[in-house]
Amino acid sequence: MFCYWIKFIKFAIIYAPLEQVVWTTYKHYNKLTEMKILLTGGAGFIGSHTLIELTEAGHEAVVVDNLDNSSPISLKRVAKIIGKEVPFYKVDIRDREGLQKVFDEHKFDACIHFAGLKAVGESCAKPLEYYENNMNGTFVLVDVMRKNGCKNMIFSSSATVYGDPAIIPITEECPKGHCTNPYGQTKSMLEEVLMDVQKADNEWNIVLLRYFNPIGAHKSGTIGENPNGIPNNLMPYITQTAVGKRAELGVFGNDYDTHDGTGVRDYIHVVDLARAHVAALKAIVENKGIAIYNIGTGHGYSVLDVVKAFEKANGVPVPYAIKPRRPGDIATCYCNPAKAEAELGWKAQFGIEDMCRDSWNWQKNNPNGFEE
Ligand code: NAD
Ligand code: UD1
Repeated sequence: MFCYWIKFIKFAIIYAPLEQVVWTTYKHYNKLTEMKILLTGGAGFIGSHTLIELTEAGHEAVVVDNLDNSSPISLKRVAKIIGKEVPFYKVDIRDREGLQKVFDEHKFDACIHFAGLKAVGESCAKPLEYYENNMNGTFVLVDVMRKNGCKNMIFSSSATVYGDPAIIPITEECPKGHCTNPYGQTKSMLEEVLMDVQKADNEWNIVLLRYFNPIGAHKSGTIGENPNGIPNNLMPYITQTAVGKRAELGVFGNDYDTHDGTGVRDYIHVVDLARAHVAALKAIVENKGIAIYNIGTGHGYSVLDVVKAFEKANGVPVPYAIKPRRPGDIATCYCNPAKAEAELGWKAQFGIEDMCRDSWNWQKNNPNGFEE
């Protein structure tokens, strides 16, 4: 028996990347009851990666998405990775009857609720559309869920709820701050709504995951982030510059109070983020009621640190020019992820160079996103 374990460990060290060994061990020791899970927005960037991790952890998933900001091709590619099709319904979560039909066909243990509009700039130009989609969509979803006896939800929240954070590194106790845009407001308000729902009916378990800055892509390079038009976020702008679609990266300000003057953020690999959802099911199994977790790595990298890491990881230059600050930006935002580790046993495994490598692998193999 002892020899078997020595052989196994040798094999694992030689042939499997460390992160895979850690993750497999985690799954083994935290074996959760297998669940049937509704993924709203499951065709999107974070949803499609979570779909893979959930099914690989033995859960069953069903996707509902109106495909407003995603392509059905992402689900075809997920099917190739996991070796099976996942039931998919092209339904808008504001469509009560459409959603009810999905619940008529499936009995869910929990919902992971990704569906929502997420572009900060667009939300300032179209506030009503953002409030209507994100708020109403969640109201209808929660109502249909409770009518069908499914009272477990993991909600995609954001570090944006901390505004300009009062504590660095940010813990979950840090007071929420002022959100400078309608998108951020919807996340902050929906957190309050969901907490009220749980307070009124303690059969609900609601996990609020406050994501920091998700980047990277699945190691296959077949799924990833596919923003419409000119990217708002840093990593897609870097990859599009590296692939030649944009002339240069504009670095928004080099006069912040940070180590090199550029903005510092907590970038997290989307696969680590996806795994945080699998781990968060533990809070539901343990009937925690309301549970809030920061999902980041705990490390802050500046814009120029990311540019350097990208060039080092991929050997591709990223031309850049310093530009004025972007309105609404803050200097520094990174978290203390200790609560998620202590309570969920989850910890990010990937570093900044892995994130840069995988973002580039996705971009260079798919310069036009999901076009086939
Ligand atoms: P995404 O746009 O790739 O995915 C969201 C999905 O929801 C899309 O497939 C879209 O078509 C779908 N959708 C939108 N409105 C819908 C509706 N009314 N009915 C059905 N489907 C609808 O975005 P993402 O990056 O995967 O983000 C997922 C969630 O995480 C969002 O709620 C987002 O606000 C949140 N979040 C994202 C980030 C980030 O940087 N990506 C950071 C913090 C929080
Ligand atoms: C942005 C959103 C935030 C959202 C988060 C999730 C704003 C004001 N905030 O946060 O609500 O939850 O995305 O993804 O948009 N940068 C450049 N050049 C670029 C793009 C970005 O220098 O072309 C800098 C920014 O100034 C910032 C850092 O890169 O310092 C990260 O920017 P970004 O990826 O947009 O994320 P956040 O600003 O953290």
